[in-house]
Amino acid sequence: MKDGVNRQILLVEKPAGKLGPQHFKMTEAAIPEPREGEALVRVRYISLDAANRAWMHGATYRAAVEANTVMAGGGVAEVVSSRAPGLAPGDLVFGDTGWQDYAALPARHLSKLPKVEPVTHLLSVYGIAGLTAYFGLLEVGKAKAGETVVVSAAAGSVGSIVGQIGRIKGCRVVGIAGGKDKCGWLTAELGFDAAVDYKEGNVFTALKAAAPAGIDVYFDNVGGDILEACLAQMNNHGRIACCGAISQYDGVPSAAGPRGVPGLIVVKRLTMQGFIVMDYMERRNEALRELQSWVSSGKLKVQEDVIEGLQNTPKALIGLLAGENRGKRMVKV
Ligand SMILES: NC(=O)c1ccc[n+]([C@@H]2O[C@H](COP(=O)([O-])OP(=O)(O)OC[C@H]3O[C@@H](n4cnc5c(N)ncnc54)[C@H](OP(=O)(O)O)[C@@H]3O)[C@@H](O)[C@H]2O)c1
Repeated sequence: MKDGVNRQILLVEKPAGKLGPQHFKMTEAAIPEPREGEALVRVRYISLDAANRAWMHGATYRAAVEANTVMAGGGVAEVVSSRAPGLAPGDLVFGDTGWQDYAALPARHLSKLPKVEPVTHLLSVYGIAGLTAYFGLLEVGKAKAGETVVVSAAAGSVGSIVGQIGRIKGCRVVGIAGGKDKCGWLTAELGFDAAVDYKEGNVFTALKAAAPAGIDVYFDNVGGDILEACLAQMNNHGRIACCGAISQYDGVPSAAGPRGVPGLIVVKRLTMQGFIVMDYMERRNEALRELQSWVSSGKLKVQEDVIEGLQNTPKALIGLLAGENRGKRMVKV
């Protein structure tokens, strides 16, 4: 970080196909002055999320990311100076800091964070990833002991926590991930009962072997063909927690949806529910208490993938979309 300068990464062009380094540019600006009601924050860690790519397509649960603006993204930051009550220099906050060294943001858009060691856990297990896994599996998926849970993007930040919570709650857990190594890691290190390598092909047949009693809860991070393969193997009254659709984010989304909608939903009396983790923020402390107790007892392993240097943020996102990461990927600024 250079003194007195705010390094920023701009999205210079919205990708029509796959995201590449040419879509970003690093630039320098003056460090902003906070206005009344704002705090100036220094960004410590930037969260890399599959959703960063989805925001480039258009407005979702947030405004679209536009070309020639600082790339949006969540981050953990430290307050440098404040013109807002309730925030003081040294406080740690979470907010949409963007990919840059400094940001001046309205205090109402910042959440004050507790002092936790390591700080990186505030972006992984105690951040959006952990809360999404917790509420998505238990509140939306309503997973119960003895049931079979299947989760896709299982070695990623959300998926790796979903599978472990499923095991803690007494479910049989099957993860779907790309590659032998990731699948081996899920079963050997994270305690998944079985793992399916979707890059090997024929997910339907592999799932049949891995989940012989059918699927009660499918935690869907990917959509597309994997959703179709799971739909066909759902048990009656099963639940599909629609968390994301990463197979559709990077490139031109496929026109056709999964076959079996709505026929299989009707016949099997399925519940398919989308959710956004922000809807559960009022109940956040309840989840954090449970997540903390599992982490401290060693029941829940936290996997983080920390990349050094703001300049490497575009490469880190492109790599995440290609499946480079295990667990929560973030950039240390
Ligand atoms: N609803 C909410 O509130 C909420 C909140 C947070 C995240 N999410 C969603 O949760 C999902 C996971 O996001 P994340 O940011 O935590 O990312 P992540 O799981 O850490 O990383 C993404 C992983 O997805 C896998 N992947 C990439 N392309 C794929 C494809 N075409 N088919 C199958 N798998 C593919 C890759 O692993 P492989 O090696 O296995 O391919 C990659 O490592 C995303 O859909 C995201 O939008 C939703």
